Amino acid sequence: MYKKFLSLTKNLTVSLEKGLNLFTTQENNPLYFHGALPLYTFWFLIFSGIMLWMYYIPTLDRAWTSVNYITSLPVLLKDANGQLLLKNGIPVVAAISPATGIPYGAVVRGIHRWGAAAMMITTILHMLRVYFTDRHRSWRWLPWVSGVLLLIFVLFVGITGYLLVWDARAYSLVVSTQRWLEAVPLIGQGLSAFFIGGDAIRDFTLTRFFFFHIGGATFIFWLIWMHFIRLHEPVVTPSRAVNFLTLGFILVAAGVYPAVNVTNDLIAQYPVLAGDKGFIPSDAPAQIGYLVDVIRYDAWYLFPYYLMEKVGVNWAWIILGSATILLFVAPFYPKDRRDNIAEVVEAKCTGCTFCSLDCPFEAITMQERAPGSKFKLIAVVFAPRCSECGICVGACPFQAIELPNTHSKTIEADVLALLKTGAQ
Ligand code: HEM
Ligand code: SF4
Ligand code: SF4
Repeated sequence: MYKKFLSLTKNLTVSLEKGLNLFTTQENNPLYFHGALPLYTFWFLIFSGIMLWMYYIPTLDRAWTSVNYITSLPVLLKDANGQLLLKNGIPVVAAISPATGIPYGAVVRGIHRWGAAAMMITTILHMLRVYFTDRHRSWRWLPWVSGVLLLIFVLFVGITGYLLVWDARAYSLVVSTQRWLEAVPLIGQGLSAFFIGGDAIRDFTLTRFFFFHIGGATFIFWLIWMHFIRLHEPVVTPSRAVNFLTLGFILVAAGVYPAVNVTNDLIAQYPVLAGDKGFIPSDAPAQIGYLVDVIRYDAWYLFPYYLMEKVGVNWAWIILGSATILLFVAPFYPKDRRDNIAEVVEAKCTGCTFCSLDCPFEAITMQERAPGSKFKLIAVVFAPRCSECGICVGACPFQAIELPNTHSKTIEADVLALLKTGAQ
């Protein structure tokens, strides 16, 4: 039943991708770069993050101001009718930050925000693609499990990013996170104290969030390496057209909707800002003890908080915890019969090492033979790593390695059948 479901989703996904080929051509179909796209968008976050890092100050009284300084944005003022305000025929420009600001800082911050959204969206699409095409089970358990960890860490880094702005929403999110952690039986209080770095929020708390953000992003690199070690030549860069399209999307979005801090004071000064939807706003600076009435939830990173608000902290833990467990166990059910793992015919193996060099999954090691043997080495297959691909069979000049259930006659019949289907 479940296998039937997976084969149905596989057919649907392949049809969708084939359909898109009609518009995009096969080389530029973005769906074929489902794994490469999250990686590509990650580079935007690294580069824009480094630029923000140069000016960010992680202390309670300077974090918001430093972000404000980076993202001060010149705006064209409009009159009550929405017409541009002109002085001597020239549009009146006002900086919505009192600070000097960094040129295009708001756009760089916008790239970071839109890049973060793009990374989460492409990561989820990638996960659905590998799941729906049934490419997540058996020996692919490692890319899948490391993928689930990647998903968790991308979420974690995104959430800590929102805390760094240290506006009123960030403070409310910290209080909500403490409620989450305190609900954990026995160790809840300890976890909450660990999160803020002590018994109260102080400068060190922001230094800690900054460490979580940068340390988490660095850990993502390591996880990506884990993700790739069992993949044969993973597609890691999208085609040039898809690259430009993604670059264009993020730059245009960040140019049209840059990220800025907007306070009530500024709105009082420039009422035009109140209704302006031309940017992603942040709240006024955080004040300890002041919780915002309505948290603005971001669909990609803040959904756990939205869920908690709707169903309460215990149910939110149960729902998100069960979903995480299901994701972790998904590759182990239904179990595939592993009956075609490569086998070495000891008598024929000369120890030439060709198979071990060619195996894309490092499933073959060369080991010493007993003293006095005709040949020095013998190939040994490490079964859990073998993907039953048969590359070693082609690599061996002595027919000393074979897949027990794939015979040349069967392969010939399979190829002929495929050719026939293709010809129709
Ligand atoms: C930071 C996020 C991620 C990045 C950068 C990433 C990157 C990649 C890349 C480049 C590939 C190779 C794709 C190909 O060759 O066509 C891949 C394969 C794979 N990924 Fe991810 N991935 C991420 C997250 C995830 C997540 C969240 C999951 C699932 C929970 C996942 C599961 C897999 C699996 C099972 C494969 C192997 C599929 C196959 O062999 O066709 N990945 N990933
Ligand atoms: S079939 Fe051969 S080449 Fe393929 S994974 Fe197994 S040992 Fe490696
Ligand atoms: S290629 Fe064939 S002969 Fe050479 S080590 Fe591998 S199994 Fe042995």
